[in-house]
Amino acid sequence: MSIKIKTEKEIGLMRESCLLAAEILARAEEIVKPGVTTNEIDKFVHDYTVKKGAYPSPLNYHGFPKSVCTSVNNVVCHGIPDKYALKDGDILNIDVTCTLHGYHGDTSKTVLIGQASSKIKKLVDVTYRCLEEGVAVAYPGNYFGDIGVAIQDLADEHGYGVVREFCGHGIGRGFHEDPMVLHYRTGSRGQRITEGMVFTIEPMINEGSPDVFVAEDGWTVFTRDGKLSAQFEHTVAMTRNGPEVLTKFW
Ligand code: MF3
Ligand code: CO
Ligand code: CO
Repeated sequence: MSIKIKTEKEIGLMRESCLLAAEILARAEEIVKPGVTTNEIDKFVHDYTVKKGAYPSPLNYHGFPKSVCTSVNNVVCHGIPDKYALKDGDILNIDVTCTLHGYHGDTSKTVLIGQASSKIKKLVDVTYRCLEEGVAVAYPGNYFGDIGVAIQDLADEHGYGVVREFCGHGIGRGFHEDPMVLHYRTGSRGQRITEGMVFTIEPMINEGSPDVFVAEDGWTVFTRDGKLSAQFEHTVAMTRNGPEVLTKFW
């Protein structure tokens, strides 16, 4: 496993790809409402990305058929856009990744469709705070294991399950580079975080059990117990001036 250290120039380019990913996500969120299909979100993300001179990284990535991941309710991640029309009370994670100047930017957000119950709002709110807790300990001198501890501590407080099969990742010219950024406590502090590293933190938090399974399509990840799952993701760079969230737009 080898972590690619980025130069300041590379981080400058990633600032642009990440800001664009965040902008695409914010624009996509604006078209989301009950009745909109996930295919319509896919078309919007595809066209907006291309119009900006970038490439939608999921498209054809290991055979993924669409330009964005749309994960509804009990779908944990990697949902494939289709004819499904969003309905009042759903939750939807939109995961946008684009490539600009050869560098990827990766970010996601879970949004509420129409009126959500307070139980659903709490899951989404705690999941966002899990991302914030992870980001808060992601700085040079700390260790990757500290991120998982911070996230799991908060999830445990609320009795939520932290998904273990999918993790954050290094990112740059590659969509998924080393290291794997685990969102749960392992008992080991792992590798040290140093300047020049760029990686994502993207906790998937389940209302119930942390267990998941992958559907027949080879992509869609579901909660095993059928309960809800939420996720937020940022790309973070360890710069000379400290940690910088590159996908901040919202
Ligand atoms: N964007 C996802 C991540 O955060 C990866 C999606 S891979 C795809 O790592 F092929 F499903 F698009
Ligand atoms: Co990612
Ligand atoms: Co992503």
